[in-house]
Amino acid sequence: MSHYAHITGWGMAVPEKTLTNEDLAQMVDTSDEWIVSRTGIRQRHLATENQTTATLATDAAIKALQMANITPQDVDLIIVSTSSPEHIFPATACLVQDNIGASKAGAFDLSAACSGFIYALNMAAQAIQTGSIKCAVVIGSETLSRLVNWQDRNTCILFGDGAGAFVLQSSEEPGGVLSAVMRSDGSGRDSLSLPAGGSLMPTTADTVSMGLHFIQMNGREVFRFATRVMAQATQEAVELAGLKMEDISLIVPHQANLRIIEAAARSLEVPMQRVMVNVDRYGNTSTASIPIAAVEAANSGRLKQGDYVVFVGFGAGLTWGAAVVRWGAPFPTKRRLPPVSFRIWARLRSLVRRLLRQIEGMLWGRHA
Ligand code: COA
Repeated sequence: MSHYAHITGWGMAVPEKTLTNEDLAQMVDTSDEWIVSRTGIRQRHLATENQTTATLATDAAIKALQMANITPQDVDLIIVSTSSPEHIFPATACLVQDNIGASKAGAFDLSAACSGFIYALNMAAQAIQTGSIKCAVVIGSETLSRLVNWQDRNTCILFGDGAGAFVLQSSEEPGGVLSAVMRSDGSGRDSLSLPAGGSLMPTTADTVSMGLHFIQMNGREVFRFATRVMAQATQEAVELAGLKMEDISLIVPHQANLRIIEAAARSLEVPMQRVMVNVDRYGNTSTASIPIAAVEAANSGRLKQGDYVVFVGFGAGLTWGAAVVRWGAPFPTKRRLPPVSFRIWARLRSLVRRLLRQIEGMLWGRHA
């Protein structure tokens, strides 16, 4: 029996707060004209004090679950792709698991920078296709605004915060994730990195004073690499799916820079009408950019059930990849979701578990 991994729900969450290019020009030596002409970005959304990678991921996941008409108890696996996790450990995915009360789910973070959502989608799809699980939530979530040096005009103009999520469910009907390619080249590790705060260079007063806890980037190097790999990965994934470029209704590329997207479209000989672009409104939300763009494309009718779509991305590592998907819809069901919010149940469940852990500690503490 074959198992296919269908996308049956999707959701996104972006902070309401925006920062325009004019706002940025008050902070560093730049201009709206420079940023728009070099990147296509006009504004980005920034997390407020109460918003974190996990809260944005949770908001996006809950929307995707509601759309798929399933409960958190139906979820077997949560993957959060992120480069701005809440901690080195525990995984942000575990915080999301607790926030939504997905009591039967495994949860882990995936670190492949801006290509991460493609990797995560592929990992979840593979788990479904082997029959190992039936339902996964794949999330791309970032608060890169917390890792950017707001005095460095080379990087601070580029990034924004947000999250997007897909629900993947198993079906015997052909469709869903059809192919994926994942590539890496660690020799380019210095092109884009966050050097300090890991085990190689733990945070010290010196690393902070040198600004090594902020994103460092060689923009030109990343630009050249990106324009080289985007078209190549797209073609490979399309071929692997047994399709031709003409079959593809929409390309949803990583939203880093309009010029990179246009260069990829040119080399693929695909008109821009078949390429999703929203980098102007969100900036580069790293691994969240592909699911956010996909959700906007689906919600605006540019991506319809049965369409063949390519997701393609590149990022730090260096990493890159592409996936071909036959776009889905919620599975038909008569089931009604419980009227109580997942979030309230999850909070209650979490409180009870913490309390039980404390009682257990008191009862067994002396013997441990
Ligand atoms: N505002 C105004 N001037 C700026 C600027 C800014 N925000 N940032 C850089 N400049 C200046 C530079 O100092 C340089 O000045 P100089 O010629 O006097 O030295 C000039 O603009 C050109 O800089 P350069 O870095 O060559 O610009 P560019 O055309 O390569 O554009 C990027 C810079 C970052 C927009 C571009 O390289 C890029 O998008 N790279 C890919 C980055 C990316 O996508 N990263 C994420 C990957 S997931």
